[in-house]
Amino acid sequence: MNAGINAAAEKIIVALDCSPEQARLLAAQLAGHASWLKVGMTLFYAAGPQIVREFKERGFKVFVDLKLHDIPHQVRGAAHSVVLAGADMLTVHAIGGCAMMEAAAQGIKEAGELMPALTKRPISLAITVLTSMDAAALAAGGVTRSLSEQVAALALQAQRAGLDGVVASPQEAAQLRELLGPQAAIVTPGVRPTGASVHDQSRVSTPAAALAAGASHLVIGRPITEADDPAAAFDAIAQELA
Ligand code: C5P
Repeated sequence: MNAGINAAAEKIIVALDCSPEQARLLAAQLAGHASWLKVGMTLFYAAGPQIVREFKERGFKVFVDLKLHDIPHQVRGAAHSVVLAGADMLTVHAIGGCAMMEAAAQGIKEAGELMPALTKRPISLAITVLTSMDAAALAAGGVTRSLSEQVAALALQAQRAGLDGVVASPQEAAQLRELLGPQAAIVTPGVRPTGASVHDQSRVSTPAAALAAGASHLVIGRPITEADDPAAAFDAIAQELA
């Protein structure tokens, strides 16, 4: 692979929302192509932290997407455990509040201090408003400001609490890049290569458009994991981006 394709590949996170057996097979197929794998609740609750360790041993960086949300003491401990398992990126819900996000940042820092081999602190991300929620769902929960105001307010709170960035739809990426500045991590799901099936995603962007809007990383699942040749599908997306 040339340098441009390698740089593009570093920005793509492959979401493995499947059984542990299927995930292990995909990891074997993607080794040497993808750098990042995402372990969400489906896989983590079936396979536990061991699957994170296995992917790390294979040389992957791992995004552990558990969307932590509980009292600060619990979230501090959970973030600590997730980092010790080997996470390079993790998520917490911004709606849990400043104290909870600060506790997550503290748990990440403390775990990092126990890991002398850790060269780069894990990237901590806040979930602002789930993309499955619309204005009516927010209002039903008592939120009176607009959806985009809510996203912006929670993103700023996350930044003040010491988190590194947010998960956002490609449509929110440009607004959030302006708000959070050039250093923030902005990770966007809902990305589909030109011409691919959109599955159940409703507001999709192409990989290039999501990066142009300000995303630092793209989460892509089924267009890669359900392809006949996942490595070739991954390489085609990296090529399209490079
Ligand atoms: O298969 P697909 O590319 O649609 O997978 C997208 C991944 O991003 C899934 O793991 C999904 O849980 C996650 N995600 C999302 N929308 C969000 C947040 C996360 O699709 N708002």
